[in-house]
Amino acid sequence: MMGEVREQIRCTAVLLAAGKGTRLGGDLPKQYQDIAGIPLAARSLQALAASEIITDIVMVIPEGDEPYVREHIFAAVPKAAEKVRAFAAGGTERYDSVANGLEAICWPCSYVFIHDGARPFIDKESLRRLYAAVRECGAAVAGMPSKDTVKMAGDDGNVSSTPDRSHVWIIQTPQVFERTLITQAYREMKKKLPELTAQGIHITDDAMVAEQMKQAKIRLVEASYRNIKITTPEDIAVAEAFLK
Ligand code: CTP
Ligand code: MG
Repeated sequence: MMGEVREQIRCTAVLLAAGKGTRLGGDLPKQYQDIAGIPLAARSLQALAASEIITDIVMVIPEGDEPYVREHIFAAVPKAAEKVRAFAAGGTERYDSVANGLEAICWPCSYVFIHDGARPFIDKESLRRLYAAVRECGAAVAGMPSKDTVKMAGDDGNVSSTPDRSHVWIIQTPQVFERTLITQAYREMKKKLPELTAQGIHITDDAMVAEQMKQAKIRLVEASYRNIKITTPEDIAVAEAFLK
């Protein structure tokens, strides 16, 4: 082993927990609401931290919420919270929150796992598959083949076309990238935002930023049908059933 210096590959997760949870409703923002007794953001944090692939975590939270997060989220999962190296402030849109999270990374990091705080069921095996894919390809997103037929709607509200279902995937998070690729892509996207908006392009996920700005090839990686996003009240019932 003499003289061998093997640098560990470090992966940072950007955990997004700065939304408002409008569609779920309730007294607290979605990420702070309990799912079977444990706050949603704490569950997602724990699920990421459980993987040895994730070495560091940036938590993106609403400005000023750090004391609340320490008291209510970290206290629920203290071991997982040890991997949180920084907080970043959320922005108006999801992409603003992601951009702030990426800029907060100030330690060695080869790959970034961008993950919705509203997806508490991400599992170690899916993280492992994503990691293998991003090392090969530079960009990889979690998803699953669509179980439903998808139709494109025209402006008149009628069906305009039906994509071949065997080519339709439902996209989830984590979305995983080489750190330099995604950081540069987000910086370019921010500069071009007025132009993109004028073209009617709305940024809805991270892969889109890498596609639009870097023409990146993005590998689709099967995660799990359980990797749901808690979005509306019925998702809470589904999550509780998964936990039984
Ligand atoms: N998110 C964020 N910053 C935003 C918007 C969303 O960090 N400006 C995060 C949310 O906290 C969530 C994830 O991105 O973990 C996915 O977003 P979504 O499910 O849409 O959550 P919300 O935006 O909070 O919900 P809604 O759209 O119903 O208001
Ligand atoms: Mg939202």
